[in-house]
Amino acid sequence: MPHEDRIERVGAKWQAQGAGEHYRGPRFGSQRARERDPAAVRALLRRCEGVTSVLDVPCGAGRLAQAVEDCGARWTGVDVSHAMLGSAPAHCSARRVQASLAALPFRAREFDAVVCCRFLHHLQDRAALERAAAELARVARRYVIASFWDSASLPALRVRLGLKRSEGPHGRAATSRAQIAESFARAGLRVVAFRAHARFLSQQTFVLLERVEP
Ligand SMILES: C[S@@+](CC[C@H](N)C(=O)[O-])C[C@H]1O[C@@H](n2cnc3c(N)ncnc32)[C@H](O)[C@@H]1O
Repeated sequence: MPHEDRIERVGAKWQAQGAGEHYRGPRFGSQRARERDPAAVRALLRRCEGVTSVLDVPCGAGRLAQAVEDCGARWTGVDVSHAMLGSAPAHCSARRVQASLAALPFRAREFDAVVCCRFLHHLQDRAALERAAAELARVARRYVIASFWDSASLPALRVRLGLKRSEGPHGRAATSRAQIAESFARAGLRVVAFRAHARFLSQQTFVLLERVEP
């Protein structure tokens, strides 16, 4: 299967009616849990210089729009699912685009920074990860902020030890920090920093990457 198709297939389960409302609401259980990803993105964006435009892909129901705007940047969101896009905050409606991350409808380096939250752990192999990294890097002038599941974390260890059920070959998967660094290095980006809510305890981890060549 071509790499684009493998990335494309990730979309299906978010097409259901009500998917956006669920993701903005009950999906994260508590206000504290809901605030973790936006707080991480805000903190990493504040480490970046000269960022006035940010592409959020996949943007889902627009959970990160406010965090981007808090940093003084203009938010643009892309998602493959109409059901998710339809739940994005109303004031962002002019800047929501329905498209696939596999082929973003933007020029090279069109955005100062590109954010990719809760997508990479849905990719099942290294080729798909590298294809996604290349497309994110293509449209980023300088920075990419991406989340992934860190394989050096307690939840991932529990899966490896058989104490927690694996989601199987089509489920979500953890990746090493080294693998993330290597995949983005092939796309011309270097790691500036990793950020986890609680290192080794939580698997959701963010990486801030910067273009090597200006
Ligand atoms: C786990 S949600 C994360 C959404 C958002 N980043 C957030 O953290 O709230 C994954 C999103 O990826 C979107 N998606 C899946 N495959 C996609 C693709 N190939 N291109 C663009 N979006 C995709 C889904 O529609 C869904 O909104």
